[in-house]
Amino acid sequence: MSEAQNVLLSDPASGKSVELPLIHGSVGPACIDIAALPKATGHFTYDQGFIATASCKSAITYIDGDAGVLMYRGYPIEQLAQHSNFLEVAYLLMNGELPNAAQFAAFDHEVAHHTMMHEAFRTFLFGFRHDAHPMAMLTGMIGSLAAFYHHGLDLEDPDMRRLAAIRLIAKVPTIAAACYRYSIGWPLRYPRNNLEYVDRFLHMMFEVPSEPLQLNPVVAKALDLLFILHADHEQNASTSTVRLVGSTGANPYACVAAGVAALWGPAHGGANEAVLRMLAEIGRPQDVGKAVERAKDKNSGFRLMGFGHRVYKNFDPRATIIRQMTHKVLAELGVNDPMLEVALKLEEAALKDEYFVSRKLYPNVDFYSGIIYKALGIPTEMFTVMFAIARTVGWVSHWLEQSAEHDSKIGRPRQVYVGATKRDFTPIASR
Ligand code: CMC
Repeated sequence: MSEAQNVLLSDPASGKSVELPLIHGSVGPACIDIAALPKATGHFTYDQGFIATASCKSAITYIDGDAGVLMYRGYPIEQLAQHSNFLEVAYLLMNGELPNAAQFAAFDHEVAHHTMMHEAFRTFLFGFRHDAHPMAMLTGMIGSLAAFYHHGLDLEDPDMRRLAAIRLIAKVPTIAAACYRYSIGWPLRYPRNNLEYVDRFLHMMFEVPSEPLQLNPVVAKALDLLFILHADHEQNASTSTVRLVGSTGANPYACVAAGVAALWGPAHGGANEAVLRMLAEIGRPQDVGKAVERAKDKNSGFRLMGFGHRVYKNFDPRATIIRQMTHKVLAELGVNDPMLEVALKLEEAALKDEYFVSRKLYPNVDFYSGIIYKALGIPTEMFTVMFAIARTVGWVSHWLEQSAEHDSKIGRPRQVYVGATKRDFTPIASR
């Protein structure tokens, strides 16, 4: 980090001024450290939706939204997508460096040997209604890990923290597949530790007792790539949630369960499911124009799902990779999905439309991922669960980073109070 400078802020109303330090990261815009502001001027800052506020320092992921850049630990996402695999990316995000062969083998072995669930989890899972949304089950099941792995969890001990992170990376796919199988009435499958991470997950999802599963390498490769692209995205809503809960010293499984809940919303990870429902609703390429018009009408309450991003104002580099991959995967699997035609028409129409161009609304990572998931045989309700499996790696990496800080503070925003001013209590008979 380069030398800090100060920014002078004057308040003409009170005549007070304060020098605020400028914090420089290794790359990207500098931030004004406003911590001294309330004491010096009596004012707080207001930033609805954290549009202009950095909530922490982090060395994990860097995004330049104007240039369409995404890097994990300094490595461009395009290079990782081309040369790496999800588990290696998980190691990178958690540890800061790419593993050598021995480190990778040890990590792979460690993750594989934490994939089992406590048998009592079955009883817990079987308590859900069979038609519960898998994201609801996932939130509850991950939160319940706090009850199963509570004893001996000393958050001051880095090895214990690391073990909790490994358990989450290992067990979330097992839990996710169990939620799916329970929802369709299939018997649960135990993880096969001799398989690689993604193959193991596909086995737990799709293997039936009556016949062996022939894994399609195209499916496994595509899923691995989708997991890499979804693994982390700096301080997005779910990661910020994990950090906020983590700032209280809460149990890590509870922190990640909170992250899953935040991810579920359609403005965030739930968009991939919403995109597919939207494409199905539009139905035919010739009806795309009507959908675009509806999305521009603020009174319709309808937005183009899979479009727009808080940070990317040029293009989402993940969407570019997924777009190319969609054509390849569908061709390799011999899938002819009419939804793809609707999606392409929609993209074309929106990218030409002044409303979307002037607001810099481009297809985001979720626009195409649903079409691929569908082609891979993943049911629509499971799309956001797939996102959660991958993002678990990002959540635990941020939780580990935060937990190792020596100057951490509880996250506690302020507010602009707009309620009633002081008034006296009236007894119920007089109201
Ligand atoms: N369709 C139509 N109009 C839109 C859309 C959209 N998808 N997204 C933004 N706008 C408009 C919005 O109405 C506003 O217009 P105006 O300036 O006239 O008031 C302008 O664009 C700016 O929008 P905003 O809501 O202030 O932007 P934001 O940064 O707060 O929201 C977003 C970002 C991703 C929540 C939003 O673009 C959105 O709702 N997109 C659809 C949902 C979606 O695809 N989410 C996935 C995001 S990427 C993966 C992830 O984060 O998990």
